[in-house]
Amino acid sequence: MARDSFKSRLGILAAAAGSAIGLGNIWRFPHITGTNGGGAFLIVYLVCIVLIGLPIMISEFIIGRSTKKNAIGAFRELAPKTPWSIIGWMGLLCAVVILSFYGVVAGWCMHYVSNSITNSFAGKSVTELSNMFTSLISSNWLPIIWQLLFMAITGYIVAAGIKNGIEKYSKILMPLMFLLIIILDIRALTLDNAMEGINFLFKPKFNELTLDAVFLALGHAFFTLSLGMGTMLTYGSYINDGENLKSTAVNVSIADTVIALLAGIAIFPAVFSYGIKPDTGAGLAFISLPLVFEQMPFGNIFGILFFSLLAVAALTSSISILEVIVAYFTEEFNMSRTKVTVFSTLFVSIIGILCSLSNGILKEYTIFGMTFMNFMEYLSANILLPLGGLLICLFVGYYMDKKIIKDQLRNKGSISSISSTFLVIFLLLVKFISPIAILIVFLKGINLI
Ligand code: TRP
Repeated sequence: MARDSFKSRLGILAAAAGSAIGLGNIWRFPHITGTNGGGAFLIVYLVCIVLIGLPIMISEFIIGRSTKKNAIGAFRELAPKTPWSIIGWMGLLCAVVILSFYGVVAGWCMHYVSNSITNSFAGKSVTELSNMFTSLISSNWLPIIWQLLFMAITGYIVAAGIKNGIEKYSKILMPLMFLLIIILDIRALTLDNAMEGINFLFKPKFNELTLDAVFLALGHAFFTLSLGMGTMLTYGSYINDGENLKSTAVNVSIADTVIALLAGIAIFPAVFSYGIKPDTGAGLAFISLPLVFEQMPFGNIFGILFFSLLAVAALTSSISILEVIVAYFTEEFNMSRTKVTVFSTLFVSIIGILCSLSNGILKEYTIFGMTFMNFMEYLSANILLPLGGLLICLFVGYYMDKKIIKDQLRNKGSISSISSTFLVIFLLLVKFISPIAILIVFLKGINLI
């Protein structure tokens, strides 16, 4: 059977941008920008996207498309009988790790959609909203039921394949996500004092731009583009030979950044307008924002839209993570896609259940002082992803045949617009700049510097 692939250019963009745009764009980026220098941070962040994010995304695409194989198979083909395939193995492990807790958080989002429908935030104080959240995440059954539902939807889409599953649904979900965010932006910008939130986000505060902020920007640029674990590599393997890899990577990065900014514009004007302290991460989404929604006219409708936005953003990311696992088993063991998808979804869900319970009855069982779920987050974001990204740079920069790189970037000569200068800069980045930058972030992330 011919290998499945993406059908259209728009489909590739929707799927790859769908992977990149996730919870990180909506609840992490706006907050770290606001508290680390606003516009000043933004400049550093954009530089990191261009200098670190883009070259690695292009590298992953090159590895994937030149071999048309899964994350492990690709390294086995390009570097037979060498230890380089460890990059693929780490990617596979990281996919299991990230997906297990992503499913749990996405489940919370779905529960909050239902909370908004039933108007459950009405009249509650911050403390009550905070208790409501804690009691959800620590209960035994409720979050697991939502998590399993989310995982089942993820599995359903992935089982249908690339063209008829991932591409088809990304082309529906991405415009939906865009629409949701635009409605929320318009609502936020028309509130009193909206400018205060905009200032928080965009006004350059160079005094807040510390060295730590620069590292934060670097780490986030990397995470937000879903790099370092073979996701873009696997998607790259489904990109047809006629597509331009460089412009695909540029477009995905632009889409990712634009959505992150629009998310900030949807959130902070609303939060400031109601005089609420801007929190970060789960606290921002599940406590501060419900406090906004309960005071806003028709707030429960905006609540439904916002939590649906989170769930959709999580879904287009989770399908790309599951695909890393499914592609490996179907190709290397010649197994049926449906069977592999069912088993891997079940396997990841079981680990996810442990993550969920680690916020409740399994709280006492800690690893290096972290609950199981926090440990999974730490392991992926601070160790596996940066290490994977570092090795991918070194692989492309030092090991891989330069002819393959050139052929992939120029589509064997049919794209003449890729100049030699670009090639030189690209190699300079993957050989020296990106590995050094990632190494610093990695050492910082594990508290060694
Ligand atoms: N990019 C996702 C976000 O911004 C998170 C993420 C990191 C991810 N690595 C990934 C998603 C791999 C899919 C695949 O939230």
